[in-house]
Amino acid sequence: MSELAILVTGASSGIGAAVCRRLAKPGNRLLIHARGGADGTDTAPLEAIAADIRGRGAKAETVFSDLAIAGAGERLVAEAMQKFGALDQVVSNAGFADKRLLGDVDRATLDRSLSAMTGTFFEIATSAQTALKASECGRVVAVSSFVAHHYTSDTLFPVTAAAKAAVEALAKSLAVQLGPDGVTVNCVAPGYTQKDEGTHRAISPDALKAAANRALTRRIAQTDDIAAAVEFLLSSDARQITGQVLRVDGGLGVS
Ligand SMILES: NC(=O)c1ccc[n+]([C@@H]2O[C@H](COP(=O)([O-])OP(=O)(O)OC[C@H]3O[C@@H](n4cnc5c(N)ncnc54)[C@H](OP(=O)(O)O)[C@@H]3O)[C@@H](O)[C@H]2O)c1
Repeated sequence: MSELAILVTGASSGIGAAVCRRLAKPGNRLLIHARGGADGTDTAPLEAIAADIRGRGAKAETVFSDLAIAGAGERLVAEAMQKFGALDQVVSNAGFADKRLLGDVDRATLDRSLSAMTGTFFEIATSAQTALKASECGRVVAVSSFVAHHYTSDTLFPVTAAAKAAVEALAKSLAVQLGPDGVTVNCVAPGYTQKDEGTHRAISPDALKAAANRALTRRIAQTDDIAAAVEFLLSSDARQITGQVLRVDGGLGVS
């Protein structure tokens, strides 16, 4: 297999960073993205991930943008093409959770979640098609969430669920469109996953403990549990799997 050019969004911490660690192999070229914190100036975490990737023998370039701004997804694809002349695989991971209930959030909050997660995935799905079709191992993995599958008073994230459910719908459509060209498109839907120390969490440690007890595995996922699923779906071994939502939630959906 020739060198792969891979875009990973939301790579500065958590699941995105764990995906980068798994993909950091000689031959791979990674364009890794983050927002750079709330004001875009906190570039150190992503640069540290890039240094780690290079230390593991892969190439890494960084890019910063707020994906809630229209056009940001399209610019990421253009940046990958400019840096690498190819884009074989995309991990659309950047996102955030909002636990506020309907009645407590305004329209602008909904629009921001839809723009950052669904709008960005839409732009990537639109602008990366030619590059993906040209690849020997074209792959798209979008990171969704259990919140698009669980609607109980304990697990309600209405605005986030709307954005993630729409991402899943777009991913399935893209899978149909690109299947004949050998490109697979799937989603990974994590359950509650341990966040990095110091990063914002939408729920309290107690709620996290309760969530672990609801999982059949009685544990909270580590970021590498999610990254392992993403890595598999990107591999050539997963060539016959497309249009799927792989739930990595400790069996939350079964109980
Ligand atoms: N952790 C969980 O329990 C859980 C469960 C289900 C699904 N997920 C999903 O998994 C994905 C990763 O979550 P995580 O827990 O690993 O999160 P995280 O550690 O908070 O990382 C989020 C990443 O997304 C970036 N990001 C956030 N808002 C952005 C925006 N508006 N524009 C551009 N980039 C933005 C952040 O960049 P900066 O740091 O530079 O701001 C960061 O790189 C998300 O899509 C999330 O919805 C997580």
